[in-house]
Amino acid sequence: MTDLVVRRLLIDLDTPIAARWNGGDAFRSAFFSALSMSFPVGEQYFMDAVRSGLKTLPEPERQKFAQEVHGFIGQEATHRRIHSLFNGHLAKLGFKNDIERRALKRLKANAHRDVRIHVAATAATEHFTAIFADWMLHHPEALEGSEPRLKTLWLWHSAEESEHRNTAFDIYQAISGNHAWRLRIFRYITVIFLTDVLRQTIQNLWHDDSLFKWSTWQSGFQLLMAKDGMFRGNYGLWRDYLAPDFHPSQHDASIAKQWLQENTSQFTVVGQAA
Ligand SMILES: [Fe+2]
Ligand SMILES: [Fe+2]
Repeated sequence: MTDLVVRRLLIDLDTPIAARWNGGDAFRSAFFSALSMSFPVGEQYFMDAVRSGLKTLPEPERQKFAQEVHGFIGQEATHRRIHSLFNGHLAKLGFKNDIERRALKRLKANAHRDVRIHVAATAATEHFTAIFADWMLHHPEALEGSEPRLKTLWLWHSAEESEHRNTAFDIYQAISGNHAWRLRIFRYITVIFLTDVLRQTIQNLWHDDSLFKWSTWQSGFQLLMAKDGMFRGNYGLWRDYLAPDFHPSQHDASIAKQWLQENTSQFTVVGQAA
């Protein structure tokens, strides 16, 4: 069991952000903005899926997971709220959130499916968020030049994603989700997630008037496809999910723990005196 606490982030999100909020870099801003645009709908879905999965468990099992799921939901609810504020600034700058619209359409079309499918989709996406989160914490230069409050936002979210990496996976196993479906859904999520984020990134770049600039794609290549880039450098960790005996706890999460220990001045723990 993972002990999960809910943290309230002490940063200013009232002050507007710039279109190229990430160090003035067009690609890095557009890409992370695209990710942020996908979070509120995604995180609501993860909360619903894990909560529904928990409900199907027999009482003793349910009790075993109840506290962790409570923490998981609290963390995702906070991420959703904070990223909605961030996305509100993007909307005021004229960025159109199509990734959310497409996701809502897909969720509606798949709403009738078995709860195990939804928990598998959540566990698969959480694998992505966990490996990307660790990558972010190891590569804070991906946020180089951005305001400290925005760096804190992204690294705090990363640390919590890494921290709760086991929850959806454990619920999937507890509700007897099988290996074949876990892989099938993971492959599906991989294609959908990457295509959707890249589509939204391109749309953001178009709005920013930087889609056809050489420097934009140079930066994109550097961020994602360099040897230690966010996509290429994570291929091995992505592939680990395919192993029959994979468990998210096999990946080292110490950098997230360290970040949370070193940045206690950036948040308060909900339910605890400051
Ligand atoms: Fe999250
Ligand atoms: Fe998460």
